[in-house]
Amino acid sequence: MTSKSQLASKFTLPTIFVIFGITGDLVQKKILRALYHLYIKKVLPQKFRVYGFSRRSYGDKQLREYLKSIMMTKAFPEPSLYDVFLESFYYIEGDFHEEEVYGKLAEILGRADGMWKVCTNKLFYLAVPPISYMHIITNLHKNGLTIPCSPEEGWTRVIVEKPFGTDLDTAIDLDMTLAKLFKEEQIYRVDHYLAKETVRNILAFRFSNSFLTPAWNNKWIEKIEVKLFEKDTVSERGNFYDKVGTLRDVGQNHMLQLLALFIMEQPDSFTPEEIKEKRSKALESIKTPTPAAIRTLTRRAQYEGYREEKGVATDSNTETYFSIQATTSIPQFEGVPLILESGKALDEDLTEVVVTFKHTGNGLYDEKTTPQNILHYYLRPDESISMRFLAKKPGFKYELEEHSLGFDYHAAYEKSAFVDDYEALMYDIIKGDQTLFVSTKEILSQWQFIEPIVNVWEKGKPPLQFYKKNTYAGTVFKKK
Ligand code: BG6
Repeated sequence: MTSKSQLASKFTLPTIFVIFGITGDLVQKKILRALYHLYIKKVLPQKFRVYGFSRRSYGDKQLREYLKSIMMTKAFPEPSLYDVFLESFYYIEGDFHEEEVYGKLAEILGRADGMWKVCTNKLFYLAVPPISYMHIITNLHKNGLTIPCSPEEGWTRVIVEKPFGTDLDTAIDLDMTLAKLFKEEQIYRVDHYLAKETVRNILAFRFSNSFLTPAWNNKWIEKIEVKLFEKDTVSERGNFYDKVGTLRDVGQNHMLQLLALFIMEQPDSFTPEEIKEKRSKALESIKTPTPAAIRTLTRRAQYEGYREEKGVATDSNTETYFSIQATTSIPQFEGVPLILESGKALDEDLTEVVVTFKHTGNGLYDEKTTPQNILHYYLRPDESISMRFLAKKPGFKYELEEHSLGFDYHAAYEKSAFVDDYEALMYDIIKGDQTLFVSTKEILSQWQFIEPIVNVWEKGKPPLQFYKKNTYAGTVFKKK
């Protein structure tokens, strides 16, 4: 067994981050900030280096200047530490589609091991379009980079981002290749929703509050809705988005994961294996819809003007909005509608899970006019929980009025208490904790549910509808 001191030394071994796509969107938006925050919190390994890969003809100096300009524009904290942090960044110019660059990379990594006189930890971050994944991992393997250089010290890990495949077959292909070249404990599949503070709270909320336990079933729950509404259009991402659509962009991953956390069985313990196993079972339990159900229980729509966006086909039928009503085979939730709804260019930024409870059924109230208890579990715009309940209105009459009990994370805690999603992910990757990462089984269950829907939609059923930008598409279609 690995002792605590061995674990500690593995954690503090010099660590090399190889980032494919260092000048790309993800580094700009998420990875750089995450690494910097870990650095200023002093939780990065003491000795670390980042090798950034990109095609631009940069050197180390230009890379550092480029990253510094991002840090300045985005007002990262503690500007006096920017330069010293960036001194650990090095640039590798190269097209990662060309095989020779992997030989060069192997040499550079070998030299770093020599310099530190140790087999360093190595982390390969694939912050590139998924189309390049196969090529990169195969070439890492050909150059001996997938195997840690010694069994005793220095791990090697690979990080892949969503979308993980474009359908079930491509997901299986990618998975089989990864499994051939890496061990499961080396593979970190990112769904950044799992690392959000509020999402990590779901299990705590569900399994530490006894008042919820007796009500968490189809006797008391009428429906569960997962909503991810965005005001933004696809803006600059038309080229990517048009091949994917809303269902595959956020439905196949983030939204199904949220749903799984709301319906999964209680884990026997809070170990990564147990949590992932129960989450995976919940995803597996979501029933594959029949073509008839897809025609009647799903809707898809596109905002007006989408076809004029940069990178979008002028006759595109890609959805920018969808809603789906699903069910699960988990006996506790049999018959409970599970509704997923998401869209771009809607009228608000809102991400929440809404649990609507049934009426008491005790005959004391008129159920037609009495509001139901509703739990709003918000991820955005606030990270908060609100429970709608009924109370008697003051006065002589016995009249009911709706109120809410609430908890707002940001009102309750200092800003410094929060850890960003990518920061949490990076921290766990370095620590070797896979709880917040997605397993093969989960990905395959997600595709098993999504793929039949995409296939029926591609046949034009139900027909694509259209909505005006910044209107709430759901309301528009409910009138149908
Ligand atoms: C990404 C999608 O995975 O998630 C984006 O590609 C979407 O289209 C985003 O906007 C939503 O994530 P968040 O963290 O902003 O809620």
